[in-house]
Amino acid sequence: MSSHSWFSRLLLPWYRENHRSLPWRGTHDPYRIWLSEVILQQTRVDQGLGYWLRFTERWPTVAALAKAREDEVLKMWQGLGYYSRARNLLAAAKQVMQVHGGQFPGSHKELLRMRGVGDYTASAIASICFGMPDAVVDGNVYRVLARCFGIATPIDSTAGRKQFKALATELLDPKHPGDHNQAVMELGATVCTPKKPKCKECPLRAKCVAYALGKTDALPVKQGKAKTRHRYFNYLHISTPNGLYMQQRGPGDIWQGLFELPLIESDKPLDRQGMARQVEEKLGKGWTLREKLERPRHILSHQVIHAVIWQAVPPGRFAPPPQWRAVSLRAMHKLAVPRLIEGWLTEGMEQ
Ligand code: ADE
Ligand code: SF4
Repeated sequence: MSSHSWFSRLLLPWYRENHRSLPWRGTHDPYRIWLSEVILQQTRVDQGLGYWLRFTERWPTVAALAKAREDEVLKMWQGLGYYSRARNLLAAAKQVMQVHGGQFPGSHKELLRMRGVGDYTASAIASICFGMPDAVVDGNVYRVLARCFGIATPIDSTAGRKQFKALATELLDPKHPGDHNQAVMELGATVCTPKKPKCKECPLRAKCVAYALGKTDALPVKQGKAKTRHRYFNYLHISTPNGLYMQQRGPGDIWQGLFELPLIESDKPLDRQGMARQVEEKLGKGWTLREKLERPRHILSHQVIHAVIWQAVPPGRFAPPPQWRAVSLRAMHKLAVPRLIEGWLTEGMEQ
């Protein structure tokens, strides 16, 4: 082991005493571990737990998941965002069945070939399920290492990613790679938190550079984000005797495959006049716009979606475009819809 063996020696006993008891801890079943890691890349443990329980109840094995319908998987994923992860889950389950005879591959290299599995997930599965010496580096790990070792290299730079991966690899306890990896993440999630870390409870405190220098707030360093894009979604609420018109989002943009109300997107907010002009241009003359309802802005990784819903009445002899379909409130429940309008549709249904 490296000269840094103190790290694991302090951390592992702490982890064994203090880790949160979660249903996937104590299993080495790669299906369950994989699912937990994919979900936890999207959300925190407290919210992710419910999703994990529902997924494993509905699809207890990778064989069962591989046979699922994509729309049901999307529906189960609803609320977690970044829906390509849900599609990749299904594709990877099929890969395990078709390419690997139903057994998850055990090496980092083969795991990386699975759909949606990147370096992080491959390392997590390889170490936790198969005892391989693969260090994981997620946001928690960056934070713990940056603080403990006093490293100011930006974590979102190429140099930073390389440096932290190398350090994590050097620190990894080869006898207990799975527990070691989980211990660092657990410390980051519960003690060495982004704000107000609980240094008094931390097993690494005596060795921690940031603590000694009073610099926990300054680490880790980020070099800065890509510019945020503001998008304005103007939805049309059009009642018909058969329900509301809805349409499915296409590829190459957020929310691929999800259903939403007919949409007119603009790059700045539209007032009633501006919206009326857009509607006429896109859908023809004779529309009436009634009420306008603003949704709270919806923040994605590099985009902010500002959505409004316009109640609209089409002209008498309006023929809807082929991609619109009238959906009853009952049937709407079964469709995967973006969280942005889900809340609104649910409220709408109570009226
Ligand atoms: N966050 C993501 N995966 C985790 C794990 N295995 N343990 C603790 N926190 C995590
Ligand atoms: Fe994080 Fe504080 Fe522990 Fe250092 S002592 S690793 S800053 S919790």
